[in-house]
Amino acid sequence: SKIAVIYGGRSSERDVSLQSGRLVARALLKKGYDIAEIDLYGSDGLLNPITQLQEVEFDLAYIALHGGEGEDGRIQALLEMLEKPYTGSRPLACGFAMDKVLSKKYWKGIGVPTPNYLSYDAIPAAEEIEQLLSYPVIVKPSREGSTIGINKALDRTELESALNEALHYDSEILVEQFVDGPEFTVTIIADEAYPVIGLKPAENHRLYDYNAKYIADDTQYLLPCGLSEQHEERVKSLALTAYRSLGCTGWGRVDVMQDKNQDFWVLEVNTSPGMTSHSLVPMAAAHLGIEYGDLVEKIALDAWE
Ligand code: DAL
Ligand code: MG
Repeated sequence: SKIAVIYGGRSSERDVSLQSGRLVARALLKKGYDIAEIDLYGSDGLLNPITQLQEVEFDLAYIALHGGEGEDGRIQALLEMLEKPYTGSRPLACGFAMDKVLSKKYWKGIGVPTPNYLSYDAIPAAEEIEQLLSYPVIVKPSREGSTIGINKALDRTELESALNEALHYDSEILVEQFVDGPEFTVTIIADEAYPVIGLKPAENHRLYDYNAKYIADDTQYLLPCGLSEQHEERVKSLALTAYRSLGCTGWGRVDVMQDKNQDFWVLEVNTSPGMTSHSLVPMAAAHLGIEYGDLVEKIALDAWE
């Protein structure tokens, strides 16, 4: 049987996806699978994605796209129409998870702790935000990945420039109360939570941002994460609740913050997490003794079931 590894795409995470996709393709090849690589909107730039998917014979699609149409349910819906199995969540869950405002609104409703927030589709008056949240705040485009367009604002000047930047990436923006504590991430594979990773960006980074994720080598990854066993179990179960509540299936990664009172707050669910050499999902798997190729195969086989 033949696996199509789909990567590239035209979101702002295209470069990250190229890294994930090539590693995934190489790993599946090494495992003996017959592979077709599809660089969406890439080398066959003249073709639209529908034609690109139709031109290749395959039995299963491995989605290594990040952001945009690759993670928000559109490619998934296309694969549904083509009646091809694919890795990860169904279209509706992908769209739900990709939209941070929608996810948070939902979590607030069902009692999953997520930091307080405001959302806008145009630049709001800073005074309005200042009345409801306190600095620092985090300003995010609602539907982006890899921390693109995300800034921490410590005062009004920073807030105004952060709002402008976020609105450049999405028509909907989110202003979120900053949680002053360490960040954790939980990998979920086939409905099982993997060991939690603690993230400690270097002092000179204000966030675990794009640079810290893919370029700088100075972020510390804590694995074991440094939490007590009881707290680690709490984070895992919170992550699973958040993930399942959006209807996610297959695999994903949930980002969580801990505050000064040791309480945990869910930030977001990623339905197509990075699989680069710097990425967190392969790191969590390695801690369980699951090497990269076995992990990729596990994700692929789960999609076949
Ligand atoms: N959006 C990036 C790829 C991640 O969540 O890992
Ligand atoms: Mg994300």
